[in-house]
Amino acid sequence: MQEHKTIYFKEYTPSPYTIETCSLEFIIEESSTRVENIMEIKRCDPHAKELRLDGEMLDLELLWVDDILYSEDMYTKEEGAIRIPLDSDTARIRIINRIYPDENTALEGLYRSGGIWCTQNEPEGFRRITYFIDRPDVMTRFTTKIIASKERCPVLLSNGNLRGTATLENGKHMTLWEDPIPKPCYLFALVAGDLGSITDTFTTMSGKQVDLAIYCDRGNENKCHHAMRSLKKSMEWDEYTYGREYDLEVYNIVAVDSFNMGAMENKGLNIFNSHYVLADEETATDSDFLGIESVIAHEYFHNWTGNRITCRNWFELTLKEGLTVFRDQCFSADMNSPLTQRLDDVRSLRERQYVEDAGPTAHPIKPDHYMEINNFYTATVYEKGAEVIRMMHTVLGTERFRRAMDLYFDTFDGDAVGTEDFLWAMQSESPVDLTPFKRWYSQERTPTLRISSEYSSDSAELVLRIVQSIPRNTKNQEQLPYALPFNIALLSENGEAFDLITSDIILLNTKTLWITEEVTEVKFSAISSVPKLSLNRHFSAPVIIECDEIDYPFLMAHDRDGFVRFEAANRFAIETLEAMMEGSEVNERYIESYGALLRDSTMDPMFKSQVLELPSITTMMQRQETIDVSAIVKAQERLKQVLAKCYYDELQESICALYAPSNTDIDGLSIGKRALKNRLLGILVSLGNESISHLAQAHYHEALSMSERLAALDLLENYAPELAVSALNDFYIRYSDQTLVMNKYFSVLASSRRGGTLERVISLQEDPAYDVKVPNLVRSLIGSFARNPVAFYNESGDGFRFVADQVILIDALNPQIASGLAGAFKNYGRLSTFQKAQMGGELERIKNHPNLSNNVYEIVSKILEAH
Ligand code: BES
Ligand code: ZN
Repeated sequence: MQEHKTIYFKEYTPSPYTIETCSLEFIIEESSTRVENIMEIKRCDPHAKELRLDGEMLDLELLWVDDILYSEDMYTKEEGAIRIPLDSDTARIRIINRIYPDENTALEGLYRSGGIWCTQNEPEGFRRITYFIDRPDVMTRFTTKIIASKERCPVLLSNGNLRGTATLENGKHMTLWEDPIPKPCYLFALVAGDLGSITDTFTTMSGKQVDLAIYCDRGNENKCHHAMRSLKKSMEWDEYTYGREYDLEVYNIVAVDSFNMGAMENKGLNIFNSHYVLADEETATDSDFLGIESVIAHEYFHNWTGNRITCRNWFELTLKEGLTVFRDQCFSADMNSPLTQRLDDVRSLRERQYVEDAGPTAHPIKPDHYMEINNFYTATVYEKGAEVIRMMHTVLGTERFRRAMDLYFDTFDGDAVGTEDFLWAMQSESPVDLTPFKRWYSQERTPTLRISSEYSSDSAELVLRIVQSIPRNTKNQEQLPYALPFNIALLSENGEAFDLITSDIILLNTKTLWITEEVTEVKFSAISSVPKLSLNRHFSAPVIIECDEIDYPFLMAHDRDGFVRFEAANRFAIETLEAMMEGSEVNERYIESYGALLRDSTMDPMFKSQVLELPSITTMMQRQETIDVSAIVKAQERLKQVLAKCYYDELQESICALYAPSNTDIDGLSIGKRALKNRLLGILVSLGNESISHLAQAHYHEALSMSERLAALDLLENYAPELAVSALNDFYIRYSDQTLVMNKYFSVLASSRRGGTLERVISLQEDPAYDVKVPNLVRSLIGSFARNPVAFYNESGDGFRFVADQVILIDALNPQIASGLAGAFKNYGRLSTFQKAQMGGELERIKNHPNLSNNVYEIVSKILEAH
């Protein structure tokens, strides 16, 4: 049996040695790469006697300490490291080792994606390149020399500024890169290959010129322009919003097809999953375009929040990720519609993070232990982390928040720090004591606020009672109340807000209460009529609200806060569906309120499409004690059909008015109209009638934008099987040579709610366009299937067995991708006895598989232990 070790935050100690400089030389050859690594070591702890260097999957050839060649008996080689006796304050270590990028299927360290050599070192990939102290609080000045065949690899890139190039013998050439800014080794990057590129320049606020380049497979250069525009907008935004400018002479971005994540912020040399770079109107959807803009921004913003100020250890991950997600969300809000952006962010938080926080793998945004750090790049660390920053932004207000950020940057530039340091900077500008607020960093699960009110017309007073119910943590321990900003309004009949006058509680501003206790009672005066409650406006805190007094139709029609309007429609739909699942008829008032929104011609189309979205299966599943997917689907389809029948003519007219198949512009209005049209078509098509099916077919063929074509394809697949066959064939023929589009094809098929989906997924694994070694393809075929509740929870148990087989198969190649897939089992505890036995068997089978990675073991054992 292997050992699966847990690492604890409380065991952190600073590194006894540090590495001041590291000069690397890579000789890239067809079957292997030779690495020469010269490090200047400095001792920090005077009692230290032994230097430990991390190293995995390395062939160590030679090692010198201060120019003395060491034989194997002069140091110790062990699993994952070497230990070298070292009793001096400085030393120069020289190492030569060999690595095998072609055999690297885990895609950590140096590997080959297509014909391109590239690296991924966060969090602990650098140890697969050479021996090093691989931890983020060791910051080093790197220089990198790369030697390779000029024909195979005309492009040779690394971090920092280009300092030299030379042509060598035997058709080889060399480039030399120097990064003047010390950095942890997880930010090291190297790229070599035959790449196309587009270039541009940016002049910073202080007048320095930066050369920008985006590299990709040859032939895709024309799909890089949106990414380049996004990069320049990000650079400008960070100057304008935070006064932060870029610090090197070049900024390079490289797009590769095989990448475990979305993108990586390596200093001066970002490496991206090609999905987040390449786009044109024919092959990318509107949300692909928006995704590119936000990921380009995210990685750029890391230059200050992550690179110049980095994390002391990986427990502090949310310091850079939560903060940078907050920054990219604000950027996207400024570039597009703030309301649309907020609703998307909240939707994603609730569908991904709330689910995680309620399940067996729940953890605080700052975890205190882990088995495999790669498992902690989670929705909680990222998205809840961003909400926590946003709450501080709300508490401080824009100006004080900016001053606190300035203090953070000025104080810690060049350091590896922790969330405590960030909170210190925030506290210096905060109008309130943030001590209770810090619990957001150490506690887990989502608190619920139960809210009730009592109105007295005699005194014109309203008493609002807010009770926090704080769930126990995963260890079943009690937790403490949270501190949070709670933005509310009390609305009169015409939607006007009463002034909030109270002496009972701290008001952060005229609309925001500062809640710190388990029970809060607050009395508002001068409320001249029974008010309507409008709660958690703008989603000011990441909590669940329970309140029986909400007037959904009123808020849907009258609230001026877009979030509350959306929320009312959403909650009303959820409750309507739940009542239907209990056997009730469709709620007439819901149908009416939906119709009123449908007819409202003053609404922005994108907002309208968001408000008219019906709750997803995932949303409904979260609220079930025992999961019953078919009951949800039945109610959903019935509700859609009732809406479609009731508003048949209006829906058709609206679709017709919005339909503009030749418009492929990606401005907000065009995107919104397409989204709304697709939404309405999705309601109508549920009727399964022939003329609507043909309408969807026409939309498929006439569309010039991928957003419309893909939406129509998906509707045909689910509602018009006889028309789907030819559309799917057409799609396949058009795009089979474009892997990014094939991802969409696989995911439509694997997400299908029709019978036979598993059989189709199994046979698609043999499709020439599929490759189990390319993470995007695994995510779109196998991942989509695992996220398809209808197919995955199929009562045969075949869905569970198939995904378990895939987890085992993929784990041997790429543990990170396998453990992502294993997350599909996290509803284990809420299944019927029958299904639970099925899934339990599969989980045990995975857990007992020999040589299972830490990644998968950690996830599967947590799921099994929780029940
Ligand atoms: N630093 C991460 C990339 C990363 C994640 C490296 C996990 C190693 C392990 C990067 O900044 C990031 O967060 N990327 C996100 C996209 C972002 C927009 C949230 C990703 O890759 O999903
Ligand atoms: Zn990030």
